[in-house]
Amino acid sequence: PHLPPECLLGSPILWAASRASTNDTALELAAKGLPHGGVVTAGEQTGGRGRRDRAWASPRGGMWFTVFVRNPCALRHAPDLTLLAALGVCRALRVEGVPAQIKWPNDLLLNGKKIGGILAQIRAEGELVDHAVIGIGLNANFSIEALPADIRHRATTILHEMGTPIHRAKVLARILTQLDALYRDLQDGRGFQAVHAEWTALCSTVGQEVEVAMGEERLRGIARSIEPDGSLVLETSPGVTRTVVSGEVLFSAR
Ligand code: BTN
Repeated sequence: PHLPPECLLGSPILWAASRASTNDTALELAAKGLPHGGVVTAGEQTGGRGRRDRAWASPRGGMWFTVFVRNPCALRHAPDLTLLAALGVCRALRVEGVPAQIKWPNDLLLNGKKIGGILAQIRAEGELVDHAVIGIGLNANFSIEALPADIRHRATTILHEMGTPIHRAKVLARILTQLDALYRDLQDGRGFQAVHAEWTALCSTVGQEVEVAMGEERLRGIARSIEPDGSLVLETSPGVTRTVVSGEVLFSAR
C-alpha cells in the first residue's frame, strides 16, 4: 500500500492466507518484540473474535487485521483507542466513496447495517497502557451469503451495498494513515475530545433506541448524546439519564 513516509503504522505488515485470529497473533508477537505500528493481517480467520466473546465470521474477501501500538495513552484514555479507530476507519471509507457511519462505540455501519467492528485489547502497567492490539474487521468484498444467516438482517458487506468491490490495499493504507495521526494526537494528550464534533456528526446512534451492555447489566433507552470524553448519555426512562462509559450497543431499533 501507499503509506506516506511519516506514517509510523504499517511496518511491518505481516500477511498470511489464514490465521485463527489476527488479534491473537499480534498478542503473541507483542511478547516477541513486535515494533510499534506492526500490522498483522489475514486473508481469512478461522477463529475470528468479536466483542463480548462472540465469534466473528471472517471469510476470504474481507479485511481482517490488527494494528499493534506501544505506549498509546494513559489507562483512563483506553476507551479512546476504540473510538478513534472507528473514526479512522470511517474517514478512510468515506474518502473511498463508501458513506459509512459509526454506531457507538465501535461498529461501522453502511445503510444502517453493520459492515465492521473494532476489538481493542490492552495491557496496562499501572496507570499507563503498555501496549494495545487494535483489531479491525471489515466485511469488504464478499457476498452476504457468506455471513451467518442469523445476522443477515443487521449485517451486510460493502460489496453488497455498493455493488462494487473496494481496493483493500488502498483502504488499508488510508486507515493506517488516519490512525497514525489520531493515535499521535492521543499520545500527545489530545484524545477523543479533539474530534468530538466530527465523531458525533458521523455517529448514527444519537436519537435511536438502543440497548447497551455495562458489564453484566443491560441498559435500554434512547441515546441522547455523546459526551466530550466519548461516553454515551442514555435516557432510560422519561427525564432519567445514565452515562455509559464503555460497553457496547447491542442493537438499535427505530
Ligand atoms: C465486534 O464485535 O464488532 C468487533 C469485531 C472485530 C473483528 C476483528 S477482525 C480482526 C481482529 N481479529 C479478531 O479476531 N477480531 C478482530
